[in-house]
Amino acid sequence: MGAQEPVCVGIIGGGLMGRELAAAIGRWAALVDHPVRPELRAVCDADPAALRWFDRIDTVETTTQDFHELLRDEDLDVLYIAVPHHLHEQLYLDAIAAGKDFLAEKPFGIDLGAAERIVAALDERPGVFVRCSSEMPFFPGAQVALETIASGALGQVIEAEGSFLHSSDLDRSKPINWKRQTEYCGAIGVMGDLGMHVAHVPLRVGWRPQTVFGVLQDVVTERPGPGGEPVRCDTFDNATLHCSVDHPLGAFPLTLATKRIAPREMNTWRLRALGMDGGVEFSTAHPKTVRRFAVRDGRQVWEEFEVGSRSVFETATGAIFEFGFSDAILQMWAAFLAERAGALDGRFGCATPHEALESHRLFDAALRSGESRCAEPV
Ligand SMILES: NC(=O)c1ccc[n+]([C@@H]2O[C@H](COP(=O)([O-])OP(=O)(O)OC[C@H]3O[C@@H](n4cnc5c(N)ncnc54)[C@H](O)[C@@H]3O)[C@@H](O)[C@H]2O)c1
Repeated sequence: MGAQEPVCVGIIGGGLMGRELAAAIGRWAALVDHPVRPELRAVCDADPAALRWFDRIDTVETTTQDFHELLRDEDLDVLYIAVPHHLHEQLYLDAIAAGKDFLAEKPFGIDLGAAERIVAALDERPGVFVRCSSEMPFFPGAQVALETIASGALGQVIEAEGSFLHSSDLDRSKPINWKRQTEYCGAIGVMGDLGMHVAHVPLRVGWRPQTVFGVLQDVVTERPGPGGEPVRCDTFDNATLHCSVDHPLGAFPLTLATKRIAPREMNTWRLRALGMDGGVEFSTAHPKTVRRFAVRDGRQVWEEFEVGSRSVFETATGAIFEFGFSDAILQMWAAFLAERAGALDGRFGCATPHEALESHRLFDAALRSGESRCAEPV
């Protein structure tokens, strides 16, 4: 392995996802050959209790409640910005103006207008390297699905489906949080939480929806507040987007489902695509297994094979071992930092700002469709 270039990292938003990055950096040595070595140097969070969690990490020199401190810190090479959605636009624009590279959290702005303004600012500053978080396609099975689709093995596509499904909101007594309130999460609701994850692969393989019919459900309308009092829970819980994709070989339906209330499912990301010549399906509910379909000698053959732990970047983890969420986070960061270093070498990269913007265009059209109850152009 060549010498690894050190990269100093600062986190803005030390909540659930900020801690995930800290843990991924702690496991960086698992990557067999990576051009850079990130070091977590600074953390900003508005909540002092969130900052205290980072006391366990020896490399952290700065903890602060003021994100401007991180933007001014010339020793920081890269930021991870993982804050509630209503803060995305201001923080991303400030980071771009400060010339900081960063991995942004999805949905990349609270709504389409915010995403457009962020992307416009980035287009003005091409030297600032920014990508949008979406780690699920780094599951080895998802990579096999993506490669199968990109190879053209499906022939004419008949139909495709991508889903990201949760179920903890089935519990009506689960307390309210910012992710369940339009003011902080955005009117797109669950699409803002889970939508980039299902849009990433279809957009990467060139499946751009032309129209969408959105079935949007606000299933649970109140949740207990801090004192147990009912608080309005005004975001869509489930969104099923029936899209039409134009393709030179023939238009086909693409169904993208994002659900907080999908009984049984726990962070299940699924991709299924069927064509006249072949097909593929993968679900993180069965993280080791990919199913593939092909027509052989006139027969419809489905095969099933185990994929193990090999993803985009090789790790010390035994190839036969299982892959999980934290491995996907490690792989996403490996891709982000390799691409930033000019060393992605044709491997699968993180979602781009323009892909994030395209996902917003889809969600916005789905919102319009929810109102009009008609299919809307994207
Ligand atoms: N990629 C994924 O799989 C994934 C999973 C969950 C959440 N997310 C995204 O990550 C982002 C954060 O979500 P989370 O689950 O970590 O939320 P969280 O509520 O756990 O953490 C957010 C943190 O931001 C802090 N914060 C709020 N205002 C701030 C400010 N002005 N300055 C600094 N810190 C501030 C909060 O105190 C909190 O600690 C969101 O965009 C969310 O959609 C991504």
